[in-house]
Amino acid sequence: MSVQTPAATPHIKPLADIAETILLPGDPLRARFIAETFLDDAVCFNEVRGMLGYTGTYRGRPLSVMGTGMGMPSMGLYSHELIHSFGVRELIRVGSCGTLSEDIDLFDVILAQGASTDSAFLHQFRLPGTYAPLSSYRLLDKAKQIADRQGRPVHVGNVLSSDVFYDADETALPRWAAMGVLGVEMEAAALFATAAAAGVDALAILTVSDHITRGQAATPEQRQTAFTAMIDIALEMA
Ligand code: ADE
Repeated sequence: MSVQTPAATPHIKPLADIAETILLPGDPLRARFIAETFLDDAVCFNEVRGMLGYTGTYRGRPLSVMGTGMGMPSMGLYSHELIHSFGVRELIRVGSCGTLSEDIDLFDVILAQGASTDSAFLHQFRLPGTYAPLSSYRLLDKAKQIADRQGRPVHVGNVLSSDVFYDADETALPRWAAMGVLGVEMEAAALFATAAAAGVDALAILTVSDHITRGQAATPEQRQTAFTAMIDIALEMA
């Protein structure tokens, strides 16, 4: 009996199997870096639009990693196809974020417990109120325990998934920060809502790459080093 390769979707033409657990950096080249650096026997499963995806093993367990691109629409379509067409059950975003918090420093790691948003992405669910996109508590708890075991301090809380990187309204981010939002990025809310609607688990692990109020930003070299701490937590999740 031959094993059937799942059919291609508009954005994923599977060249190899996709594991039930996947790490999702925004940058497809980072997906390649993670696969080549940390996975054993990694093979490329997607090249459509250069959105590279790989499957290999980590400590003997199957693990995939794929870029998502930037923004809620891009995260929404890739996470939807991975879940609904390829059977992915655990989706872990590994990305960067900015912060306005005086309690958070450049390169700190944030586990996104929830993701508020200014995006219209959630309107598709036609809910009669304001939905709070949350990470999977199971994955969140696991990541926190791993970070504690590794001796890595992490912040846990709400982030903002914004549609706007260059915001004409300079008062917007401070108002989110005043509500206790720890960081700003552009994808987690789409991931959490898509996963919740499908009954699967999602989490976002974020490294602070820019401190907006302090005017600090990581250099590309610093991003690489800081990124490794976040990846160490994510890989243990597998
Ligand atoms: N990702 C990293 N830094 C960000 C910022 N300041 N705004 C949105 N997304 C980000």
